[in-house]
Amino acid sequence: MTNEEQYIDALLETDQVLEQIRTATAAQGMPDIAVAPGYGRLLTMLVAMNNVTKALEIGALGGYSGVCIARGLQQGGSLTSLELLPQYAEAAKRNVTQAGFGDCISYLVGDAKLSLEQLVERNEKFQFFFIDADKEGYPAYLEYAIQLAEPGAVIVADNILLRGRTINEHKQGPAVQAVRGFNQTIANDPRLQSTLLPGYDGLAIARVLAK
Ligand code: DHB
Ligand code: MG
Repeated sequence: MTNEEQYIDALLETDQVLEQIRTATAAQGMPDIAVAPGYGRLLTMLVAMNNVTKALEIGALGGYSGVCIARGLQQGGSLTSLELLPQYAEAAKRNVTQAGFGDCISYLVGDAKLSLEQLVERNEKFQFFFIDADKEGYPAYLEYAIQLAEPGAVIVADNILLRGRTINEHKQGPAVQAVRGFNQTIANDPRLQSTLLPGYDGLAIARVLAK
């Protein structure tokens, strides 16, 4: 982390609910890779600013980002969270329930692309998306998010810098190539208005324009 990021992190008061989830996530055997606290706050703000009632996240991990998103939802709003691994989804469910958001978050377990395909078939629509799952899947997840988006929906994606691998020309693995392609698309696609933030591990934010 840079000195500037450490400075900002120290300004933000520790959020006990989220720190509890971070601790529980590690204790449950999951990696400690939840989104940076400042970006967690941004998720809550974007959801609240867009009056979101239906949100979708791809990649639940321990429920940290789920709570950040759920906190911004309108009264009666819901978050659908896609998670590959049943044991992660169960742990996330326990953690978000303990944080008081069990009623508004539902988990769909298994390959996210299959869940997304089903949501498309059911003609479901969402106003907010958070992409934070396997990096090779990012290009496909972006296309699904655009398909499932209401006009004006916000799409956020974590880890667009892959701890420096994205800008290291010697790195040419499938995840790196997928994220480079994702970044190109999100930066330039005429269906989107977008920006990319380089802090922490990088965050992309896009708004889906009306067709
Ligand atoms: C890593 C971090 C993440 O936030 C993630 O979604 C995947 C991997 C990492 O630092 O390795
Ligand atoms: Mg991430």
